[in-house]
Amino acid sequence: MPFKVLVTDKLDKEGIDLLKKYPELEVIEKETLKGDDLKKELKGYDAIIIRSDTKMTREVIEASDGLKVISRAGVGVDNVDVPAATEKGIVVMNAPLGNTISTAEYTFAMMISLARKIPFAHAVTKIEGKWDRKTFKGVELLGKTLGIVGLGRIGTEVGKRARAFGMRILGYDPYISDELAAQLGIELSSLEKIYKESDFITLHTPLTEQTKGMISKKEIEMMKKSVRIINCARGGIADEAALAEALQNGRVAGAAIDVFSKEPPFEPRNPLLDAPNCILNPHLGASTSEAQFNVAVESAEAVANFLIHGMIVNSVNMPSVSKELFARLKGFITLSEKMGSMISQCIEGQIKELRITCSGEIEEKDLSILTRAALKGLFNRFLGDTVNYVNSTSTAKSRGIKVVEEKDEAVGEYTNLITLAVKSDQEQMILGGTVYSNNQYKVVRFNDYFFEVDPQGTLIVISNEDKPGVIGKVGTIMGERKVNIASMQVSRKSSENKALILLNVDSVITTEIENLLSKVPEILKLKIVKL
Ligand code: NAD
Ligand code: MLT
Repeated sequence: MPFKVLVTDKLDKEGIDLLKKYPELEVIEKETLKGDDLKKELKGYDAIIIRSDTKMTREVIEASDGLKVISRAGVGVDNVDVPAATEKGIVVMNAPLGNTISTAEYTFAMMISLARKIPFAHAVTKIEGKWDRKTFKGVELLGKTLGIVGLGRIGTEVGKRARAFGMRILGYDPYISDELAAQLGIELSSLEKIYKESDFITLHTPLTEQTKGMISKKEIEMMKKSVRIINCARGGIADEAALAEALQNGRVAGAAIDVFSKEPPFEPRNPLLDAPNCILNPHLGASTSEAQFNVAVESAEAVANFLIHGMIVNSVNMPSVSKELFARLKGFITLSEKMGSMISQCIEGQIKELRITCSGEIEEKDLSILTRAALKGLFNRFLGDTVNYVNSTSTAKSRGIKVVEEKDEAVGEYTNLITLAVKSDQEQMILGGTVYSNNQYKVVRFNDYFFEVDPQGTLIVISNEDKPGVIGKVGTIMGERKVNIASMQVSRKSSENKALILLNVDSVITTEIENLLSKVPEILKLKIVKL
């Protein structure tokens, strides 16, 4: 029986033809399907290839039977519930490379259109039939300052084009080294500097908890009145209501928007639809023949290789190893990723180095899968879905982050121990973890403190002065706010009169609770870690 592949959202013909060449695959093309229709149709399929219109929600994924892979022909997998797919053992793949140039060129087209008011002049000439040569005086790009937020694939390509136009380029990205930025002719700056000094600001980050609404009323207040904002990344990175208001009252000179927090943006009506000086397009950044060819071929090849040969590439939720080895290493892979994620949520400054040391009995000789998992965890907070097990090492390389792998055969207190030591430009952080024979994993070291903790759910990490009463104060705050403490571990460094408290809690930690904890005088540092 051939593997059944469902293709929705109009995948480029080249991708379909490639799939059809394999006798092992049966390819069925459908228009975009939604909700119950999608749930019904999905039954019996091994793979689905989608673009951004098909929403693979938890409900749809849970209702599927036998689905092995979801392939997203594009970068963002925000239309796929990745945790739900992971829980069901479904591989989620993306095609991160194919549409970079299209989107970078398109961003530039948006910037020039804004600077020269081209769409507005076009509308008046063609639609209103008026010959108006006074209203549409624009500005030149030469000598203007461009602020790029997010210096990944697309952001850096935009930077290269801006150089050719003689622009001064400021950039912000927590995972780019000064050296690399300098090579690109970009001055790494704080967000504040970008907001204050830029004539144009363009956004190229994924949509994450940190980036959602990162440009809102407060940030707009810092900007020049002549600023023009471009968002060809994901809707909602610039808060839509705040931006619409700023366009209405002239606080911002113009905006060009390709993406919306809800697409299409008509119901409920997006406030940007009624804002002046605002170019709005229906998510067209990747809409070129070249990009659609690239992502269709990238996705089709990945799906064929996975179904026919069991090979995993470009996965956002699985490492690229055979299924058998993955099952054996699962505990180590998950532990490495969780420790990477814990460090990224606790460390201050720009990451410079990751050293991963595997001691004792770890079956796999090639440790790269654990390094990839640790890096995926480390980057996930900033790169969101675009980092996967396959590209996490190259991502580190392209960002000038040194990665060192070490194997130490010696068996110490634990039969196996994975240690991650991460250096930033401000500090070093070390985490150690072990996997028991039942595949249970624990974090057993946090810098110079030793304990055994489950890296699951919400973890509160408290560094405090080792004085009587601190635990009581923390317990009282939690109790009064009805936060159930699942476990509490305390480790002390008596030489320095310091201690570390790790709390696993069942509920969400609100900003109010965080503020109350921060006010406890003996608490030196506090981090809320979500795993
Ligand atoms: P990328 O992963 O190569 O780059 C994203 C960059 O954002 C990374 O360098 C990351 O370090 C940085 N970043 C993350 N959090 C940040 C933060 N808080 N502040 C500053 N920088 C931060 O991704 P890419 O391929 O360049 O894609 C960028 C965005 O464009 C994504 O959201 C993607 O989904 C979107 N996209 C849109 C279209 C479109 O049609 N409009 C097409 C392709 C990609
Ligand atoms: C992407 O994430 O790749 C883009 O949004 C382009 C798209 O698929 O439409």
